[in-house]
Amino acid sequence: AVANIGVVGLAVMGSNLARNLASREGNTVAVYNRSRSKTDELLAEHPEAGFAPAFTYEEFAATLTKPRTAIIMVKAGAGTDAVINALVEVFEPGDIIVDGGNALFTDTIRREKAVRETGINFVGAGISGGEEGALLGPSIMPGGSDESWVTLGPILKSIAAVAEGEPCVTHIGHDGAGHFVKMVHNGIEYADMQLIAEAYDLIRRGTGKSPAEIADVFAEWNRGELESYLIEITAEVLRQVDAATGQPLVDVILDQAGAKGTGAWTVQTALNLGTPVSGIAEAVFARSLSSHPEQRAVSRDLPGPSASTGFVDDADAFIEDVRLALYASKIVAYSQGFDEIRAGAAEYDWTIDLGAVSKIWRGGCIIRAQFLNRIADAYAEAPELPVLLTAPYFVEALGRAQDSWRRIVQSAAGTGIPAPAFASSLAYYDGLRAERLPAALVQGQRDFFGAHTYKRVDRDGTFHTLWSGDRTEIEAEDTH
Ligand code: 6PG
Repeated sequence: AVANIGVVGLAVMGSNLARNLASREGNTVAVYNRSRSKTDELLAEHPEAGFAPAFTYEEFAATLTKPRTAIIMVKAGAGTDAVINALVEVFEPGDIIVDGGNALFTDTIRREKAVRETGINFVGAGISGGEEGALLGPSIMPGGSDESWVTLGPILKSIAAVAEGEPCVTHIGHDGAGHFVKMVHNGIEYADMQLIAEAYDLIRRGTGKSPAEIADVFAEWNRGELESYLIEITAEVLRQVDAATGQPLVDVILDQAGAKGTGAWTVQTALNLGTPVSGIAEAVFARSLSSHPEQRAVSRDLPGPSASTGFVDDADAFIEDVRLALYASKIVAYSQGFDEIRAGAAEYDWTIDLGAVSKIWRGGCIIRAQFLNRIADAYAEAPELPVLLTAPYFVEALGRAQDSWRRIVQSAAGTGIPAPAFASSLAYYDGLRAERLPAALVQGQRDFFGAHTYKRVDRDGTFHTLWSGDRTEIEAEDTH
């Protein structure tokens, strides 16, 4: 046995992660892939990595020093179960199997439970940062047992991105906690991307600026409080010219957004937890709406307002409004995401340090941003903060942004430019702020048609009005 760590699955993410591991002092990396050709390719292309190749699971196990530690990097789903079963056959109690794919956290909980019976540790680890992150330093969100973290921690710290001197990895919590947090990371990623896309659309249609000019706007924004990887790459994408047509690339890309499911999981899970991640949900639905060409084709002639382009008089003022609306909506998206993590931790009995989560997202991952320092500060000051956006820093920012935010949502509605994530974030914000919500009326309606009962503001107890009788109120059993 020569290798202290192994990687199973040598597609781009797996081979990049294996190369990253191999480049760190003290690591020898065993590699295995189902089809031999990928392994041969990797060995031929990267002799400097000193990989220890294995061509069967038995060889793979024999190549690893104990406790054996292997990271699985295969497409999430049934394939993952097959690899786990094969590793369980050849591993021993105390060994560690890590799933580094984008697994659904409930699958991770199930797998952890099953693998634990054998005495082997199973760790679901979210890994963010795409291909480049895997190679140069991702943000890593491992779950699993404390025992596994003892061995795994130093290895993952050696390959993770570094932000302000700290490695972007922390033990998130037990069993599925890591994959849960990675799922929410992706939900926030969806929201952030959609908000940026809405900002672009508003500026383009409102001011008539070209994609290249808007690229300059984003590049400028990237020097301020919006500084982030996603803003940075947005400028790059908008500046790109299509070689074939000479047009801006963004104008020749089909406007139907794909999705591999993690955003939808974030929303589905939030629905089950009763956590209103409305901005994230709008982002997921915006992708769905874009991807129904048959519906869009029959809807093209629906009536709309007369002026929907070039309606802006003062372009600079409008762009500044959009910037602030984007910032405010982004605060909402993160606040909603952290709310879901808080709710998930309570439901699944995880102890998750929200400040630590924000810190490991500062580098390596797709949503990395300067902004995450502010979230870390907020949780450092108030670890139990029930609503992130009520932290003093964000209250100040929202106060500064809200007039712009309202103007932009009004202008989008008035001119018929869809800005679902901007609008729903603002509605969420106003919903939270409201002294009284019309939820009282909904309770009245529920009680009317289904005797679902209600509580009163002025007395304890549960009540029902005899709607089909004399309409007097009676005390009732609480039915929620
Ligand atoms: C990351 C990303 C990554 C995700 C892609 C694609 O953190 O590196 O979240 O894990 O798979 O962003 O997601 P969609 O195809 O669903 O957009």
